[in-house]
Amino acid sequence: MNLQNKVAVVTGAGSGMGKEIAKLFAQEGAKLVLADIAEAPLNEVAKEIQASGGNAIPIVSNVAREEDIQTMINTAVSEFGALDILVNNAGIMDKMTAAADVTDELWERVFAVNVGGPMRAIRKALPIMMKQGHGVIINTASVGGLFGSRAGAAYTASKHAVVGLTKNVGFQYANFGIRCNAIAPGGVETNIGADMADVDMSALGMQRAMVGMGLNPRMGKPDEIAKLALFLASDDSSFVNGTVIIADAGWTAY
Ligand SMILES: NC(=O)c1ccc[n+]([C@@H]2O[C@H](COP(=O)([O-])OP(=O)(O)OC[C@H]3O[C@@H](n4cnc5c(N)ncnc54)[C@H](O)[C@@H]3O)[C@@H](O)[C@H]2O)c1
Repeated sequence: MNLQNKVAVVTGAGSGMGKEIAKLFAQEGAKLVLADIAEAPLNEVAKEIQASGGNAIPIVSNVAREEDIQTMINTAVSEFGALDILVNNAGIMDKMTAAADVTDELWERVFAVNVGGPMRAIRKALPIMMKQGHGVIINTASVGGLFGSRAGAAYTASKHAVVGLTKNVGFQYANFGIRCNAIAPGGVETNIGADMADVDMSALGMQRAMVGMGLNPRMGKPDEIAKLALFLASDDSSFVNGTVIIADAGWTAY
């Protein structure tokens, strides 16, 4: 077991990649605090893990809210006595909205969740990890955080910000035994598209962004991302820090 007795917090654990990360980490022996804004699916995941002998505490949280971040991280420390691994996975799309059509509301919401969430959780986690002398932070970025048109303007900019945050934290805290890396998934079959009902189908929205979709060899499965998260969370990746690992079946290699 690669994560025996490690304490991990996973955000966005009620669905998609966060759910698979939570399940795999539990199988590998981690004790988990699971956070998600959606209560019912979050509780389902926690129950599933508990039913198979794992240790998981669900905490309904909006990662954009400071109080919720405080509760989430404090729970790991008060219930399990440590914070070894933080997975900032919760994120939302932007309906593929083109730059000319972005509203302040959309921009602020996407940044509050996708960038503010990881920033707040990292800010809270770092002093704990520094005191412990070790810690691992994994942020879910996106190939949209490395390339220009996998989503709308707000999502693309937010995931580029996650990449910058990852590199900054990875370097700045390297001498404290802390590693911070990001995963950049390509297209993965999750529920993230559920929010795409009134997607921007204009020539500069979805249509333009999807021009490169034909180059995508295939969609990924959430458990394929979970395996990468496990590698980054475990000591197997002890020399990997401040970087972004792409998992996209080769989509961006063209
Ligand atoms: N699916 C893809 O193709 C893809 C590709 C690249 C990156 N990503 C990123 O992967 C991460 C996980 O997404 P997914 O594809 O598994 O999607 P998903 O929608 O299946 O899961 C995301 C989870 O995050 C939760 N969430 C949303 N807003 C939240 C908030 N404010 N506070 C707490 N929880 C919140 C949702 O309730 C949901 O359970 C996201 O950061 C996303 O941007 C997804």
